Amino acid sequence: MFVVVGVSGGIAAYKTVHLVRLLILAGHEVHVIPTQDSLRFVGTSTWESISRNAVTTSVHDDVARVRHVALGQAADLVIVAPATANTLARMAAGLADNLLGTTLLATAAPVVVAPAMHTEMWSHPATQQNMATLRGRGVHVVGPADGPLTGGDSGPGRMSEPEEIFEAALATVSGDADLAGLRVVVSTGGTREPIDPVRFLGNRSSGRQGVEVALAAARRGARVRLVAAHVGDGVLAEASRHPRVEVVRAGAAVELRDAVVDAAVDADVVVMVAAVADYRVLEASDEKLSKRGQEGLTLELVQNPDILAGLMQDRRPGQTIVGFAAETADTVDELVAKGRAKRRRKGVDLLAVNEVGWVKGFESADNALLILDDHDDVVAQAQGSKRDVADAVWDAVLAVRGPAQ
Ligand code: CTP
Repeated sequence: MFVVVGVSGGIAAYKTVHLVRLLILAGHEVHVIPTQDSLRFVGTSTWESISRNAVTTSVHDDVARVRHVALGQAADLVIVAPATANTLARMAAGLADNLLGTTLLATAAPVVVAPAMHTEMWSHPATQQNMATLRGRGVHVVGPADGPLTGGDSGPGRMSEPEEIFEAALATVSGDADLAGLRVVVSTGGTREPIDPVRFLGNRSSGRQGVEVALAAARRGARVRLVAAHVGDGVLAEASRHPRVEVVRAGAAVELRDAVVDAAVDADVVVMVAAVADYRVLEASDEKLSKRGQEGLTLELVQNPDILAGLMQDRRPGQTIVGFAAETADTVDELVAKGRAKRRRKGVDLLAVNEVGWVKGFESADNALLILDDHDDVVAQAQGSKRDVADAVWDAVLAVRGPAQ
């Protein structure tokens, strides 16, 4: 799991070193974001060596990778420990003038805070009101514990012990990382078959659904190789930033085949969402074709290799292979019948079938599909955003192969 640990400026930061260690030992990828003030208590070198990742407090570092939002987007879990009165107030107000603030605004992951401050500060109505705001937004609060504080006083305000924060934080996401440990390959986009150096045969696939399938797997803990043929503008942005997604580009069907076959060698699951051209031009011209002296033009096409068929033939033991089929149909029965025939032809473990028309499916944000298993039973029907539909595909994959080992 990808865990972001925010550290604000309190002496309890020394206990957070142990929390990060517990997360690392449990196999999680940890990125620490200290506030500038907290570095007076525990320095950058400690966080870098213990988390094994680069640490920065500034939104101006690593700008090319849009770090101020990338960590938040990639996170499966965000823990803020210690959370000082100041940081909790800033969170409640939604301030974004440091890296921790921007990350917290950019994340959709569960957020867990472990407050640490003196009793008076904790009991102050301002802090209590901020806590109510944060709880109302779904932030999980661990502690503070009641006990001796650094000033020699005693009372509620002591940061909970690292083990307790660790358990409470993981409990908020249990079940979410159900693909952890799986290596998956997803193909997406439409292939472009060259006619000459400037022209191609293509299709209308935007690549969005495949990218959502890849991102859903990554969010649920899988390591993903995303083989992308031509996709729409900006469609790959989030996937390219995700630390568990590797993007490989491919142009024509044979390039896509090579990249997918290469990636499939050690993959547990392959999902072919790409719209692969059935035919390519037998001899693409090296020079730009000219219409001069030609009334008409005949292109001789030959069939492209069936990538899914090749994958099925060479599949490694335990590998699950999923196809996608975009079909035109007047009724659901017709769609199911077409899907079943294709599932049998392809022999895949699962086939996701969706209905397309000139205005449906390709460029829209939503999608609707049904999923057939290898008995040709409809095992799922999903409708909604392409993200929701992507999750339904992974639910079906898990149902046929059981949980990740
Ligand atoms: N596919 C593939 N290799 C091809 C064509 C398609 O691997 N040369 C995959 C697609 O990525 C998709 C599935 O096969 O997962 C179904 O694609 P579709 O274009 O519907 O299948 P076709 O084999 O082209 O079937 P038909 O032409 O009979 O409709």
